[in-house]
Amino acid sequence: MKLDIEHLYRIEKFMESITDFDRLLEAIIRESANALAAESASLALYDEDTDELYFYVVRGKPSERDFELQLKSIRIKKGEGVAGRCAAMQMPVIIQDAYNDPHFDPSADRKTGFKTRNLIAVPMIYRGKLVGVVEAVNKTGADGFDRLDEKVLSVLASQAALVIENARLVQENLRQARAAAMGEGIAGAAHCIKNILAGVGSGEYVMQTGLKNGDLPKVEKGWEVLKRNTDLMRDLVLDMLNVAKPREPETEPTDVNSVCSAVADLMGPRAAEQGVVIELTLAEGIGKRTLDPKGVYRCVLNLVGNAVDACSAPSGRVEISTAEDAQGLAVSVSDNGCGISRENQEKLFDAFFSTKGSKGTGLGLAVTHKIVEEHGGTIAVQSEEDMGTTFTMRFP
Ligand SMILES: Nc1ncnc2c1ncn2[C@@H]1O[C@H](COP(=O)(O)OP(=O)(O)OP(=O)(O)O)[C@@H](O)[C@H]1O
Ligand SMILES: [Mg+2]
Repeated sequence: MKLDIEHLYRIEKFMESITDFDRLLEAIIRESANALAAESASLALYDEDTDELYFYVVRGKPSERDFELQLKSIRIKKGEGVAGRCAAMQMPVIIQDAYNDPHFDPSADRKTGFKTRNLIAVPMIYRGKLVGVVEAVNKTGADGFDRLDEKVLSVLASQAALVIENARLVQENLRQARAAAMGEGIAGAAHCIKNILAGVGSGEYVMQTGLKNGDLPKVEKGWEVLKRNTDLMRDLVLDMLNVAKPREPETEPTDVNSVCSAVADLMGPRAAEQGVVIELTLAEGIGKRTLDPKGVYRCVLNLVGNAVDACSAPSGRVEISTAEDAQGLAVSVSDNGCGISRENQEKLFDAFFSTKGSKGTGLGLAVTHKIVEEHGGTIAVQSEEDMGTTFTMRFP
């Protein structure tokens, strides 16, 4: 009996340490075969749709890979054979002399070339529902399986049922979360596109009236509106693709300070129009880093764009700084703008989260977050309402 408890203890340890569903079930079946001193053990799952059992984990002798493959191709109707009967009755079944037992179906043996002498099948049940059947075949060095084996296998079977149901639950949660995220994404995209189309529509209207009246400046004005909105559409589509697709960064030796200066040069005039100054505080001697320069540029540009937007007062100030410490390279963008509420801080990096109405797609930070993560880096935010915000990206 001591041996059995040891096996159960090992299973408990496995349950704690192995998170991979298949490895966990394999471990349970391996320990089942060991605990019962059986030549082989297997786990068949119940398919509710077809009312059949199919082998999911098979533990034979290591050399018997064919045996495993053959068995996995077999499907058993509920009620048929020993496993099927066990499933139908939801009760353990012990067969002492297989070939002289009317319930034993030798067709699996014929297919696999295995010779079953005795076997035990125990149902896996979770909350009264059949999950599958665990079987052990050919007890070594003894007459056959007994009531103690039945008890031990029942405990292992209920552990396996728990693992399977947990995995199903996790999968169902994931599926629901994915469906919800997709729904939100589509709603967000539709909202953005609607706004852009409204812009396209008004540009078109201005152009048309200009054309009708031979008013060239008006045509040009309409054209500008149209152009701005088609640019927005292009950016939206690029950002959406960027967020949706995993991508390897195209790295090369990158001078991060130059990237920051280029962003400051580009954004300076627009910021100045709003009375916002962009300052650079760049660490000296950080040299070139293996990063994706376009990706980093995009990140800094998104952060600075947001920072400038956040500063409505004419005393607005945005600072781009770089620093180096033991954890790597840090690039920060600080502003003394409106700040971000606690509630919104949690949604910042979600695709399509924006407080800017038709002026924002809400993809800027989602893209930034993704690029930083693709570099193996992190991004953090510190913000206080009406005081300002600092975003810090760290690249290892
Ligand atoms: N520096 C900041 N100060 C205050 N709010 C910010 C700041 N940065 C981001 N936010 C908030 O986070 C939201 C999401 O930012 P994000 O860059 O993802 O989208 P967006 O700026 O609204 O649109 P887009 O960047 O696609 O044009 C913003 O709408 C804004 O509410
Ligand atoms: Mg933005």
